Parts: sequence; structure tokens; C-alpha cells
Amino acid sequence: MKVVILGAAGGIGQALALLLKTELPSGTELSLYDIAPVTPGVAADLSHIPTPVKVEGYSGEDPSPALLNADIVLISAGVARKPGMDRSDLFNINAGIVKNLVSSCADNCPKALIGIITNPVNTTVAIAAEVLKNKGVYDPAKLFGVTTLDVIRSSTFVAEVFNKDPMDVKVPVIGGHSGITILPLLSQSGFEFSDDDAAAMTKRIQNAGTEVVDAKAGGGSATLSMGQAAAKFGLSLVRALNGEKDVIECTYVEGSGELARFFAQPVLLGKNGVEKILNYGTLSDFEQTTLDDALDTLRSDIKIGEEFVKY
Ligand SMILES: NC(=O)c1ccc[n+]([C@@H]2O[C@H](COP(=O)([O-])OP(=O)(O)OC[C@H]3O[C@@H](n4cnc5c(N)ncnc54)[C@H](O)[C@@H]3O)[C@@H](O)[C@H]2O)c1
Repeated sequence: MKVVILGAAGGIGQALALLLKTELPSGTELSLYDIAPVTPGVAADLSHIPTPVKVEGYSGEDPSPALLNADIVLISAGVARKPGMDRSDLFNINAGIVKNLVSSCADNCPKALIGIITNPVNTTVAIAAEVLKNKGVYDPAKLFGVTTLDVIRSSTFVAEVFNKDPMDVKVPVIGGHSGITILPLLSQSGFEFSDDDAAAMTKRIQNAGTEVVDAKAGGGSATLSMGQAAAKFGLSLVRALNGEKDVIECTYVEGSGELARFFAQPVLLGKNGVEKILNYGTLSDFEQTTLDDALDTLRSDIKIGEEFVKY
């Protein structure tokens, strides 16, 4: 098994690489790529940690050597938010980066599972799909927007309010990954929320990224919690590829298109990526209204990505 991180020298990339070096199964190869020249050094640094995971680091303009024969590629390359920015402000720089990197994935590892972390995820996943389609290698079962951070934040914040162990709290998060498109299904958390409390908690989860951006005061966005979230998601992909059953993650994938071409919801993972997109169950009235209000934004975010590749 070969797992690749593109953007591996960044805040998320380094945290993710550290977690994967310590948690990937024995014999896995971890391949790190970033345009930053420090990347082989990050790999050398990690390689001194005594785990049976081999780490290689690559920098320079061409990601090909890092990507050859990859099974899983996690992409966190790009710029992060500063205070006052929302995720769509990153589009101008990150769209081109994702387009080029995914194009290289199509050439070097067309069958790999690809997880997109780079924001704006609602849009960059659509860009990736169109690039793969143009290259004739698009398989919707193998492309994922990584929305796990919304899921772990929901567990943490709900556990805080009810004084529980966050490891025991599960909240599915559906929709997309920005502002109002992030919809935590608090009605399925096992805890009672009044309408006001549900609205306040939903808002906190939707704005949690901005909480970190503001607290870092110009130093970037969530990197450590995102590293943990991406490691959780990446390790789930590894377990599913290795034949483990019942691996389920909420993730942003192309499904039936009923609500939007791409939509985050619980997905059963398997040897080919998406095994089955699971029903997200019944929504409370509050959740249904919130979802209805978000769909135009989500669809428009997706269209921007599709058109970026077309024109
Ligand atoms: N999906 C999520 O929930 C989520 C959460 C937080 C951040 N993000 C996004 O993840 C991305 C990375 O965030 P970060 O904090 O790690 O940023 P960062 O600036 O610390 O790291 C980004 C890295 O990408 C590298 N890079 C830039 N262009 C590249 C290219 N063409 N090829 C390879 N590497 C390239 C940079 O050299 C840098 O090392 C941002 O777009 C951020 O918005 C997503």
C-alpha cells in the first residue's frame, strides 16, 4: 500500500504525515510531496521514528515520482485562510493547484483513491472530477472531499455541552464544507437540543474554522485538528482497501445528484472506494430548513469548479 500526501510540508501536511507515520499499518509506504524544498527533510525527520512505515520525500515542480503506483492520495496543497477571508477567497490560487496536481494523479496513479482537503472543498472536488473526466479516468467511487474536520468538531463541541467523552459522541455531518453548507445532524446525536440550542450549536460548528483562523491571527487556519481529521479519514480508506468491513465515514462524494452533484453524507467504504452511499435518515424541521437554504450555495460552488475546468 502506498499513501501520498501532496502539500506535505504545510501545516496540515506535516501533522498528517506524523500521524500516518505512527499509525499506518506495517509495510505501508508514505510518500511526501510539496513544492517547498524542505520536503525531503520532513521525510528524513519522520524516518527516524521507529515504525515499520517507509517515508520518502520529494520536492520540485513535478509530483510524478511521488505519485507513481499510489493507492491513496491526500491533497492539502494550497494556501490557507487569513482573518477576514472565507473559503471561496482561496479559489483563485487553489483551483489551479488542485487542477495541476489531480492531472498528475490521472497520469501517474489513475486508479488511486483521492481525498481533497484543499479549500474551497465544495469547488475543488468538482475541479478534480472534471480534470479526471477529461483524462478519461474519472471514477466517482474514488474521489472524496475530506469533511472529517466538521465531524470531529461536532463530537467535541456536543460532548463539551453534555459533559461526555467526545470519543463516545457521534454526529453525522452532511451537505458541504463551508459556512451554511455544513449541516451537523444534531437530532441524530442522541442528545436533546431545543430549536435555539440546535441553531446555536449548528452555527458554532459552521464557524469553527473561522474561530481558529481568528485565534491564529494571520498565522493560518486549522492544521493540527485537520491533520488528525485527515489521518482518521485516510486510515479509514486504508482499512477499507485492506478489506475491512463496516468502514463508514461522512465524506463529500458524487452520488445520485438528487440534491446536488456532490454531497457529504455517510458513506460505506470498500475495496473500490465508495461501496455504498448511505441514507442520512430523517431530518428535524430545523435541519430540513437549513439544508433547503444551503442547496443553492452548494450547487453554485460546484458549478464554479466545473466551469473553471471547462473554460
Ligand atoms: N478540508 C478541510 O476541512 C480543511 C481544513 C483546514 C484547512 N484546509 C485547507 O487545506 C489547505 C492547506 O492548509 P495548510 O494550513 O496546510 O496550509 P499551508 O500553507 O501551511 O500548507 C500548504 C502547503 O502547500 C504547498 N503547496 C503550494 N502549492 C503547491 C503545489 N503546487 N504542489 C505541492 N504543494 C504545494 C505549500 O508549499 C505549503 O507547504 C488550505 O487550502 C486550507 O484552506 C482544509
